[in-house]
Amino acid sequence: MEELSQSLIKTLQNKIKDVISEKRYIHSLGVQYTAASLAMIYDVDILRAEIAGILHDSAKALSDKEILKECKKLDLSVSEVEKQAPSNLLHAKVGAVYAKRKYDIDDEEIISAIRWHTTGKPEMSTLEKIIFVADYIEPGRKMITGLTEVRKVAFTDIDKAVYLELHNTITYLEEKNSNTFKSMDEHTLEAYKYYKNIVENK
Ligand SMILES: [Fe+2]
Ligand SMILES: [Fe+2]
Repeated sequence: MEELSQSLIKTLQNKIKDVISEKRYIHSLGVQYTAASLAMIYDVDILRAEIAGILHDSAKALSDKEILKECKKLDLSVSEVEKQAPSNLLHAKVGAVYAKRKYDIDDEEIISAIRWHTTGKPEMSTLEKIIFVADYIEPGRKMITGLTEVRKVAFTDIDKAVYLELHNTITYLEEKNSNTFKSMDEHTLEAYKYYKNIVENK
């Protein structure tokens, strides 16, 4: 069984290596290993965390134009906010479909973890939270304000790590754009409010 899972991971790694840049492949490995470590702490199946980690950015190489075309082809809805940052926001939606169709993953929890890895959402499953946080803290990530704290907290309080990550992301978007709330995906804001409440009431 163990051998089987290792060969599955290897197969997926090789497939992913072919469809994304080397830089993003190294990031995906980082997310895979970080997700595995978090899975050990939070009692989640390690293999599922690794699969979600290695596959989470499989649609990230598509340009804005290509991803919009792909959404049309796959019959995926595209919101006004998503239209403003197609690749950034839609690679998660398309990646979830790819996990199923291109990489033969039929585990809904893995697919959902990929679907929500960029924006987050309220009431995430533990695996969803793990991928959301692992994507942000993996060792190859460029150092940004607040990252060290999220890295530390991730291994003791995953809800707080989710909250801090959302807080940092929203602050970053605010600094970049004064129209933040118009250009932010609604799920990010909903997730922020939800996890803020959880952390404050602990
Ligand atoms: Fe991503
Ligand atoms: Fe990523």
